[in-house]
Amino acid sequence: MKEADIEWKNLGFGYVPTDYNVRCYYRNGKWGEIEVSSSETIEMHIAATSLHYGQECFEGLKAFRGKDGNVRVFRPIENAKRIQESARGIKMAEIPTELFMQMTEKVIKLNERFIPPYGSGASLYIRPLEIGMTARVGVKPADEYCFLMLVTPVGPYFKEGFKPTNICLTREYDRVAPKGTGRYKVGGNYAASLVAGEKAHELGYSAVLYLDPKEKKYLDECGPANFYAIKEGKYITPASDSILPSITNDSLMQLASDMGMGVERRHITIDEIPDFSEAAACGTAAVCSPVGEIHDLDNGTKYVIAKDGKPGPVTQKLYDTLNGIRLGEIDDPHNWNVVIDL
Ligand SMILES: Cc1ncc(COP(=O)(O)O)c(C=O)c1O
Repeated sequence: MKEADIEWKNLGFGYVPTDYNVRCYYRNGKWGEIEVSSSETIEMHIAATSLHYGQECFEGLKAFRGKDGNVRVFRPIENAKRIQESARGIKMAEIPTELFMQMTEKVIKLNERFIPPYGSGASLYIRPLEIGMTARVGVKPADEYCFLMLVTPVGPYFKEGFKPTNICLTREYDRVAPKGTGRYKVGGNYAASLVAGEKAHELGYSAVLYLDPKEKKYLDECGPANFYAIKEGKYITPASDSILPSITNDSLMQLASDMGMGVERRHITIDEIPDFSEAAACGTAAVCSPVGEIHDLDNGTKYVIAKDGKPGPVTQKLYDTLNGIRLGEIDDPHNWNVVIDL
């Protein structure tokens, strides 16, 4: 096997072609056999429900080459459960956990030469995707689905070091509706976030901190990531039906609790921001992305969180611990990693 000709250290978060993807079709009420493909395209009907009515959901997870040479995937069963929730949320066929796991293992093995080496900071990003395939003109769920997994190597998130960035909040845009699809990982939510996200980037912010879409009083999510803060020594994170249940956030809550900290999942009001000693966005891509300042675009208030411009000690420790577990550098007491038998 020839190692891929890639400068791992210079990799960004973009699409790099790999050798294979895996696919499985749902027809006549059941999932078929796993198919291996080296094509980067799919053939589908021009009237497919995924194209017209947004019947698509996806996942994002990573495989890492560890210190001991083993390849680990972080909590893939949680991604399997979450894509089942997403599928249920928009009336798509559910993917059995066993099928999800078989395809994860297969797509990693087939693309082994694209798994970045230990120490490069890069990883193999796995993107499972389910799409409605049936041709429909009326608004109705499909009968046939395609579930595929592609992989692409991605570089380290913090190329210029683990540093706080500024985020903004505004009442001008909602990502999702109060009883809408925010807790599912469906493409429509991301389409709905593009205008606000691009505006934030143009203004020099790394992300938008969305408020709850009903009352605009509580903190919700931070771009395509969850949000947490450290207040009076406690790890606090929003309880909300309109945010995606982040697997990273769930893991960080556990680690914070292991560290002896109080952990609260509850409504967090804007008024509490001045009491944060630390804040961060969290998700698979970055683990934790520390927040420097939060700027309220509607009234000009600027909240300074990272007063010395550095990540806070809790965020640093959480980041180091979760990363260490993913890379097999430290113990994995909750058995989060699944080792791939290459
Ligand atoms: C909207 C949104 N929230 C939160 C997250 C973080 O979730 P996870 O930690 O499972 O990657 C993601 C990324 O998947 C996301 O897209």
